[in-house]
Amino acid sequence: MSARDERPGRTVRKAVIPAAGQGTRFLPATKAVPKEMLPVVDTPAIQYIVEEAVRSGLSDVLMITGRNKRPLEDHFDRNVELEIGLEAKGDEAKLARVRESTELARVHYVRQGDPKGLGHAVLVAEQHVGDEPFAVLLGDDIVDPRDPLLDTMIEVRERLGGSVVAFMEVPEDQIHLYGCAVAEPTDVEDVVKVSGLVEKPKREEAPSNLAVIGRYLLDPAVFPVLHETPPGKGGEIQLTDALQVLARGDGPGHGVHGVVFRGRRYDTGDKLDYVKAVVRLASEREDIGAELRTWLGENFAPGAGAGS
Ligand code: G1P
Repeated sequence: MSARDERPGRTVRKAVIPAAGQGTRFLPATKAVPKEMLPVVDTPAIQYIVEEAVRSGLSDVLMITGRNKRPLEDHFDRNVELEIGLEAKGDEAKLARVRESTELARVHYVRQGDPKGLGHAVLVAEQHVGDEPFAVLLGDDIVDPRDPLLDTMIEVRERLGGSVVAFMEVPEDQIHLYGCAVAEPTDVEDVVKVSGLVEKPKREEAPSNLAVIGRYLLDPAVFPVLHETPPGKGGEIQLTDALQVLARGDGPGHGVHGVVFRGRRYDTGDKLDYVKAVVRLASEREDIGAELRTWLGENFAPGAGAGS
């Protein structure tokens, strides 16, 4: 997979990945290492996100970074010293692994400066994105490559225009962790028309069980709206609030649809979910999966004793 895979005729070419967050949930690991660089098995979480964008033909990637995020730039840049060493040893497999992230996409960086929320991070992308639709991928969600989501969202945008948000149905006691939608079904299964959105509602105030997950396909009409969006929940400029305006408006580029995702998604933003994601993805790997599954069975199956 490489930047050369860009699909002709695709109307969406650019991906924006907000990566300025401090990752305090993972301290002390994130004291000197950005949370996006935490490995999921042997690959930094952020690489899964860029790979997902590239798989859908979005090979122009803009990362919104901030202080202490230099390792992200290093990861997607060449490491010539390392390459020379591996070449001298004839270690083609590792050489390919090292080069993979460099050749994946054209990655650009812009710093958020004063982090004022997800809406603000998207606004920082305005100049790079220009007057084109673009995707936003949040780094805390890894979507399984076997369950394409972005492709479906791009198709919905191409058919219906406006912006498209990814939803997942979540249990009532989790909705306060997400943006939540008021939405009506359309004639296509799992595609809904959004009429309202609220950021992290209390359980008793949530209008539905449809939670916004970290994938958005935005019309550039979002920028003027974001400029006018006042700080919302938590004192931050919320993308959810701007989408609510787009959902209710009927101007050019307005209108919001949702795709209800029923595939495999791994949350790496929370400690327990992160560990689960690592175990799940490791257990499916060709190199270590079989051994790991045996070990898990021996140690953690009901009735298994504490092993090694
Ligand atoms: C952000 C959005 C929220 C969305 C969530 C998905 O919140 O503000 O609407 O549901 O991402 O992961 P965060 O998790 O960054 O607080």
